[in-house]
Amino acid sequence: MRLLNYLPWLLPAALANPLNVRSTACNNSPDLCDKSYGEITHLGAHDSPFVRTSDSTLAGDQYYDTPTQLSAGVRLVTAQVHKDNNEWHLCHSYCSLLDAGLLSDWLATIKSWLDEHPNEVVTVLLVNSDSASAAELGAEFTTANITSYAYEPSSLTSAPSSWPTLQTMIDSGKRLVVFATPLTTSTDYPYLMSEFDFIWENNYDVTSPSNFTCEPDRPSSLSGSISTALSSNRLPFMNHFLYSTDLALLDIEYPNASYVSTTNAPSGGTGNLGSTATKCKTAYGGRQPTFVLVDFFNKGPALDTVDSLNNVTNAVGRTSVSSSSSSSSSSSSDGSTVNNVFKGLVELASSAKSGASTSMGDWVWAGGNWDSILGGGISL
Ligand SMILES: *[C@@H]1O[C@H](CO)[C@@H](O)[C@H](O)[C@H]1NC(C)=O
Ligand SMILES: *[C@@H]1O[C@H](CO)[C@@H](O)[C@H](O)[C@H]1NC(C)=O
Ligand SMILES: *[C@@H]1O[C@H](CO)[C@@H](O)[C@H](O)[C@H]1NC(C)=O
Ligand SMILES: *[C@@H]1O[C@H](CO)[C@@H](O)[C@H](O)[C@H]1NC(C)=O
Repeated sequence: MRLLNYLPWLLPAALANPLNVRSTACNNSPDLCDKSYGEITHLGAHDSPFVRTSDSTLAGDQYYDTPTQLSAGVRLVTAQVHKDNNEWHLCHSYCSLLDAGLLSDWLATIKSWLDEHPNEVVTVLLVNSDSASAAELGAEFTTANITSYAYEPSSLTSAPSSWPTLQTMIDSGKRLVVFATPLTTSTDYPYLMSEFDFIWENNYDVTSPSNFTCEPDRPSSLSGSISTALSSNRLPFMNHFLYSTDLALLDIEYPNASYVSTTNAPSGGTGNLGSTATKCKTAYGGRQPTFVLVDFFNKGPALDTVDSLNNVTNAVGRTSVSSSSSSSSSSSSDGSTVNNVFKGLVELASSAKSGASTSMGDWVWAGGNWDSILGGGISL
C-alpha cells in the first residue's frame, strides 16, 4: 500500500490525467483529429446565409447567421449564387425575394471565422445557379482573401479513395473545402471542386416526413444504386429537410418550420434525423453519411445526431444557441415588396388550411400576378 501512496508523484502529468493527453480538439473534439475528413459526419446548414429573421423572411432556412452557425458546431455551409447587376450575390431563388449580399462578403466572414478558429475544418458548397465560371467564382474567393485556406485535392476529376485526417488538414493550413455545382473545373483554381465528382446526394425535395430516403438521387448516373455510389468513392451526402406544401397549388415549396423540431430530432416522431441517419448508415453497410444537411440547424438539436454518429461525447469549444429559439438576434431585414407578396401568400394558404373563411378577393389577389414576381416552380 505504501507504494500506491507514492505512485501519483511518479507518474508523468499526461498519464496522471489521461483526459488531457491531447491539448487540442479538431472540429470540437480531440477524438476527431485522427479521423479522415471523409470518415466523419459534418453537420450542414442548408442555405446558410438565408436567415429567417421575421415573417417577412419566410423564405429563410436558418434562424442564425453563418458565423453563429459555425461557432455552434456547423461545419458545412451551403448557399445559392446568382448573378445580379453583374455581381455575384447570394440569393434565394430570386434576388428580389431574399438577397443575402455578395458572395465575396460572405466568404470574408468565413475567412474571419477560420482565422479565429485555427483547429476547425469547414466545407462550403455553392449552388452555382447562374453557372459562374471557375475564374468568376475564384475571383470572389480572392477578394475575400480566403484562398490560402483552400484545400486542393490531388485530382480534380475523380474522388480519392481516402481523404486526409482533420489534423493533417489543420497542420497544413488547408482547412476550407470547397464544392460547387454545376462547375466546369479549371486547374487555375485547383481548390474549386465539382460537387458531383466527389459527392452523391439522396433526394432533397421531400414534402412528407415519411418520405426521407437513403438512395442516391444525384448524380443521375448513380441514381438508385447504393452499391455503385459507395464504390465510386464519392462521399455520401444526406439531405434532411422538409418542405411545406401550403403553396403547392402555386408550385412553390418553402421550408416547413412548424415540424422542424421533429425533423431535426435525434429520435421520436416520423422522419426524425437520428432514426433516418441510422437507417442510412445501415443501408450503406455501416458507412456513416459524411454530410447531413438541415434547415434551422439549432432545432432538434441536429448536432445530437451528428455527435452520436461521430461517437463524440466530449465536444469542446462550441458556443451553443438555443434549440427552442425561432428568432435570430441578428438584425431583421425589411420586407421587400416580393417578401410581402410571399408572406401574404403563405398567410392566405395557412388561414384557408386552418378553416378560416377567406374572401374571394383574397384568392383573386393570390391568383394574380404572383408568378411574374416570384417565378413558378421553385423549391426554396
Ligand atoms: C489575407 O490573409 C492572410 C492570411 O490569413 C493575412 O496574413 C493577410 O494579412 C490578409 N490580407 C489582407 C489584405 O487582409
Ligand atoms: C411519398 O412517397 C410515396 C412513394 O414514393 C409517393 O407516392 C407520395 O406521393 C410521396 N408523398 C409526398 C407528399 O411526396
Ligand atoms: C409541416 O409538416 C407537418 C408534418 O407533415 C404538417 O403537419 C404541417 O402542416 C406542415 N406545415 C406546413 C407549414 O407546411
Ligand atoms: C463511431 O463508432 C461506430 C461503431 O463503433 C463506428 O462504426 C464509426 O466508424 C465511428 N465513427 C467515428 C467517426 O469514429
